[in-house]
Amino acid sequence: MTALNTPERAAPARPAADHAIVARGLRKHYGTDHKRIDALLGVDLHVRRGEVVGVLGPNGAGKTTLIEILEGIRPHDGGSARVLSVPVQDAAGMKRARRHIGIASQQSALPPLLTVRELLTLQRTLFGSAVDVGALIDELGLADKARERVGNLSGGQQQRVAVALALVGDPQLLFLDEPTSQLDPQARRAVWAVLERQRDTRNATVLLTTHQMEEAQRLCDRILVIDHGRVIAEGSPGELVEAHCPGRVISFKADGETLPDLGGFTAVLHTAGAERSVRVEVDDVPAALGLLVDRQRAGQLTLDGLRIERRTLEDVFLKLTGRQIRG
Ligand SMILES: Nc1ncnc2c1ncn2[C@@H]1O[C@H](COP(=O)(O)OP(=O)(O)OP(=O)(O)O)[C@@H](O)[C@H]1O
Ligand SMILES: [Mg+2]
Repeated sequence: MTALNTPERAAPARPAADHAIVARGLRKHYGTDHKRIDALLGVDLHVRRGEVVGVLGPNGAGKTTLIEILEGIRPHDGGSARVLSVPVQDAAGMKRARRHIGIASQQSALPPLLTVRELLTLQRTLFGSAVDVGALIDELGLADKARERVGNLSGGQQQRVAVALALVGDPQLLFLDEPTSQLDPQARRAVWAVLERQRDTRNATVLLTTHQMEEAQRLCDRILVIDHGRVIAEGSPGELVEAHCPGRVISFKADGETLPDLGGFTAVLHTAGAERSVRVEVDDVPAALGLLVDRQRAGQLTLDGLRIERRTLEDVFLKLTGRQIRG
C-alpha cells in the first residue's frame, strides 16, 4: 500500500543520465490460455528526466498495468523496463529506487484511523525527506482537514491525501494513476499547480494517466495514446492535434432548426443546453470564411457568435480510439 511503502535507506540507485524510464517491448497477459487477456502487447516508452508524460487510453487499454509494472509491483511477461536505471524485476534494486519514487495508485487504500498530518508525517519520516508537511497540506487545500482522520474524509479529499503522500517523500519520479479523477475543478487546478512546480523547480519526472483531456493538454509535455495494449500515437498535445485532426472548426449561432446550405462544406447542428450552433469542420479556413460571408450578404444566414477553433485532444482521442464504449 502506498502509505506504508517503506523504502530502504541504502545508497540511492544511480539514475540514467537523461532518462528516468526506459521500456522496450513490454508485454503482459492475465489469465490462462483458455481465457487470456493480453493487457500489453509490446509497449515502448522513454521518459526523460524532468518530463511530464501522460498515458491516455480507453478503459481497459492497459494503462494501470503499464504503470504498475514500472512501479515494480506487477511482473511482466516479456520485454524490458528500467526505472531510475534499475531493471524493474530487480526487487532489491527497486526497493532502493523507491526511495526516490512517489506513487499515487488508481485505488489507494489509506489507513483510516490516522489523521492527515500524522499520515503524511509518518510517510515523510519513512522516506527521510525534509518536505514541509504543513505547506503541502496547504497547497492541496487540506488545511481544514489536517487533524481529521483520513477515514472521515470525502473521496476527493482522500484523493488529495494520496497525491500528498506521493509527494511528501521528495521524489525524483512520480507515478500518478488518474490522480484527479474525483476532484472538483478548484482542487484539480491545485494539483496541476503542485505538479507543475515539481517539474519546474525540482526537475521531477511525472508519468500520469488521465481520462481528462484538459488535464493532459495542460500538464503533459508528451502524450502516449494506448489502446488494446499497444501505443497507437505519441507526441506533444499540439503535435497530436496537428497530426490527427489538423483542421479547424468554424461555429456560429444557428438561426433555426435547419442547417444552411454551405456548398461543399459539411455543417452539423450542435446543441448545448438551450443553445444551438452550426459547426463546420474545415481545412481551408479562408475559403470557408469567404463562402460564409457571401451567404451572410445574401441574407441566407447570420454569423452571430462566429468562432474559429483548433480541434482538441478529445477529438484526437475519439478519432484514434473510436466512439464505441468499452466493456
Ligand atoms: N488482475 C487482473 N486480472 C485479470 N485481468 C486483469 C487484471 N488487471 C487488469 N486486467 C485486465 O487487463 C486489461 C487492462 O487493464 P488495466 O487496468 O491496465 O486498464 P486501464 O487502461 O488502466 O483501464 P482504466 O481506464 O479503466 O483504469 C483489462 O482488460 C482488464 O480487465
Ligand atoms: Mg487504470
